[in-house]
Amino acid sequence: MGPGEARPGSDHELAQRPPGSYATALDLRGRTALVTGAAGGIGRACALRLAAAGARVGAVDRDAAGLAELVDAAGRTPGAAGGAVEPYVLDLTDLDAAERAAAGTDVLVNNAGIQLVRPIEEFPPDVFHTVLTVMPEAPFRLIRGALPHMYEQGWGRIVNMSSVHGLRASAHPARREAARRPYAEARRCLDALNLLGRGGDGAAADDFGFLGLLLAGERDVAGFVTRTIGPVVAYDERRGTELLDTLDAYFASGMSPVRTKDELHVHVNTVAQRLERVARLLGDDWQSPARVLEVQLALRLHRLGALPGRG
Ligand SMILES: NC(=O)c1ccc[n+]([C@@H]2O[C@H](COP(=O)([O-])OP(=O)(O)OC[C@H]3O[C@@H](n4cnc5c(N)ncnc54)[C@H](O)[C@@H]3O)[C@@H](O)[C@H]2O)c1
Repeated sequence: MGPGEARPGSDHELAQRPPGSYATALDLRGRTALVTGAAGGIGRACALRLAAAGARVGAVDRDAAGLAELVDAAGRTPGAAGGAVEPYVLDLTDLDAAERAAAGTDVLVNNAGIQLVRPIEEFPPDVFHTVLTVMPEAPFRLIRGALPHMYEQGWGRIVNMSSVHGLRASAHPARREAARRPYAEARRCLDALNLLGRGGDGAAADDFGFLGLLLAGERDVAGFVTRTIGPVVAYDERRGTELLDTLDAYFASGMSPVRTKDELHVHVNTVAQRLERVARLLGDDWQSPARVLEVQLALRLHRLGALPGRG
């Protein structure tokens, strides 16, 4: 970032972007949205993004000053209509009020949250109770409030913000560095999608096949090999067959079954049968250009020992 350049994602940088320049095209004109925890962080960014897409946004938070600042920022956001963000000062532990607030919304973003990490014996019980109220119970009540309208009109979107800890528990909070790595990987995937003209799509490094190896922060080479040719490796190991050698010879001979049989000194029917077996293991499209490239790379990596258990 050069001197005078705005930090990517900052209000200043967002305001400088031409309308419609976001990675994901989104048109929410005529829609209403409700974002909880909108006074700061991720909720604030969601509220601004939804407003930029044309939605009228109800911004819920207990932090009145933060909401006022958000309304101000929305006024500077390209695409957001005047008054697009309406502040709603509310403590979500008031569950009845939360449910009422969600009535009639088209897009609900359950984002408000509290983070306190302590060993159990030091964790204040009242905070624990508040966490349970604000994080699982208030979203339930908000969804309960929002669903009738969504069902009635046959359209609605609910986004529940979570954490990697929603998928995998950890004894300690993710350290800053640990959180940065998946973010950086996600960023690389997003940049790759944009470069490939697939802005607006979603993808993880795995979805890019071998390109994912280049994109992934921690290159999962063994995982790539297993995903790509694992069934063939396992079949050879189980049955003592020579499918991998056949594939090597097949690729070395420019994918010619005749030259492969010469290379392996077997009958051409044997080559055909082995390739049929490979198709059954990897799927009929394994010789499509994209997959063949991946299979060849996986074979080479496998020969270099990139499979669990190999030296
Ligand atoms: N930032 C991260 O790295 C991260 C990681 C994992 C999960 N999350 C989750 O994503 C969500 C947003 O994260 P963030 O970093 O933007 O958080 P943040 O702390 O910056 O913002 C949370 C917002 O929720 C509001 N809030 C808290 N309790 C409330 C209540 N009782 N009533 C009304 N508003 C209340 C706060 O005032 C604040 O504005 C949270 O649910 C958080 O747990 C964030």
